[in-house]
Amino acid sequence: MWEFLKEYIAQPDTIGAIAPSGRYLASAMADSIDFAKARCIVEYGSGTGVFTREVILRKKPDTVYIVIEQNGRFYEMLRKQFQRTPGVVLVHGDASDVCGFLEEQGFRHADYIISGLPFTSLPEQVSRRILSGTRKAVGTEGIFTTFQYTLLRKRFLEEYFHIREIRRIWRNLPPAYILNMKPSDNLVAPIS
Ligand SMILES: C[S@@+](CC[C@H](N)C(=O)[O-])C[C@H]1O[C@@H](n2cnc3c(N)ncnc32)[C@H](O)[C@@H]1O
Repeated sequence: MWEFLKEYIAQPDTIGAIAPSGRYLASAMADSIDFAKARCIVEYGSGTGVFTREVILRKKPDTVYIVIEQNGRFYEMLRKQFQRTPGVVLVHGDASDVCGFLEEQGFRHADYIISGLPFTSLPEQVSRRILSGTRKAVGTEGIFTTFQYTLLRKRFLEEYFHIREIRRIWRNLPPAYILNMKPSDNLVAPIS
């Protein structure tokens, strides 16, 4: 908790929250994944690993799980916890490079991408690069799920994805929305 707050004070826009998510939000995020079918799952912005732990508990051992975290301190915390977990690939990098990370693991597309990224506070061009990469990374069949504290970026996300469902998770501090999305044929934003 204290580590998280320190990182937020140093980089409020990229961390985007003063504390890690709670376990009810983690469980609801993982509910977006069909673990029986998933061959490759990606997570963006794992922080201290709240969602990561939940996905590892539920995933099949042979499902590849690529965990991308940009912050050096959080990446080290993830490494200490999960570096020996079968099927888990920890990446100290940028979510916008997701297609390259998938390729390195022998995948063209991810079946599921879950995100803890703070799209409300990230600079617009950074968010656009990430969403454009994500759109390519999920191909035509993958699912992209993100949580947000507000719906301020709903229209923005709809430039890239069709929103299938929005769930409100009250048992989190602060309460959060989970947006579950699929690629859309009627895209507004170009995919670079
Ligand atoms: C709101 S925190 C969420 C942490 C965790 N998922 C949770 O719910 O507790 C956002 C996380 O995204 C990471 N992040 C921000 N921009 C990123 C990027 N471009 N690529 C990968 N991670 C990024 C931050 O370092 C931070 O760990």
